[in-house]
Amino acid sequence: MTRVLAINGSANMEKGNTHKVLTAFLEGMKEANATVETVFAKRLKIRPCLGDFQCWYDKVGECIQTDDMESLYPKLREADILVLATPVYLPLPGEMQNLLNRLMPIVEPVLEVHEGRTRAKFHDDVKISKIVLVSVGGWWEKDNLGTVVRIAEEIARNASVEFSGALLRPHASLMNENKEKGEEVLSAAKSAGAQLVREGKISPDTLDTISQPLISEEELIERSNVAYRKAKESSS
Ligand SMILES: Cc1cc2nc3c(=O)[nH]c(=O)nc-3n(C[C@H](O)[C@H](O)[C@H](O)COP(=O)(O)O)c2cc1C
Repeated sequence: MTRVLAINGSANMEKGNTHKVLTAFLEGMKEANATVETVFAKRLKIRPCLGDFQCWYDKVGECIQTDDMESLYPKLREADILVLATPVYLPLPGEMQNLLNRLMPIVEPVLEVHEGRTRAKFHDDVKISKIVLVSVGGWWEKDNLGTVVRIAEEIARNASVEFSGALLRPHASLMNENKEKGEEVLSAAKSAGAQLVREGKISPDTLDTISQPLISEEELIERSNVAYRKAKESSS
């Protein structure tokens, strides 16, 4: 059975748009018989990485800090698929960044050059073979999620595992307003989850349905600016 660990970095946790897309994705995975677990980065006490490389060259594979990462490391070692779910905060919410930096102890520093880049690998006791991204943003264009995609891709490549793609939902709050399209997006996210577990990959068409425009760019910008002007007037 496939084990999935999802890390949700949204500050709004269960109320956020990240949660909406992630929940549908995980639902599809469950339908394909995977076991799934979600952790919220904000709910965990995770200190910043000390940056002293003790986990690489002193106590190999162990972090000397005592905080909630202690209970997360065993879950990370047991998962087959790691889902990184985060809003774009140019680039990431702080809690998510702290957690990602603390992945160092599960990475083994046997360095090799692949396609001109220095890469390591996960320790042999880490089962993760795929990393997939779920990311949402507020602005209209999908390209504005590109930095987060690059980060998730780099994490996968640095650990020498597959990057299985990205479920990207720009202007995510519109999912709530445009109910019909919103349902279409969530249903595609669910299908993406089932595809990844059953077939090992997600079809490009499904990913396009998740990212489809829900409003025109001009309308979204006009609405945002009107809302801001009103807020400014009422606070002056
Ligand atoms: C500090 C901060 C920075 C943000 N930067 C971006 C950004 O660069 N691009 C974007 O599309 N949305 C940006 N957003 C909007 C969030 O990505 C958006 O509100 C998203 O729905 C938040 O996810 P959540 O609903 O799960 O909390 C930013 C929000 C915050 C609070």
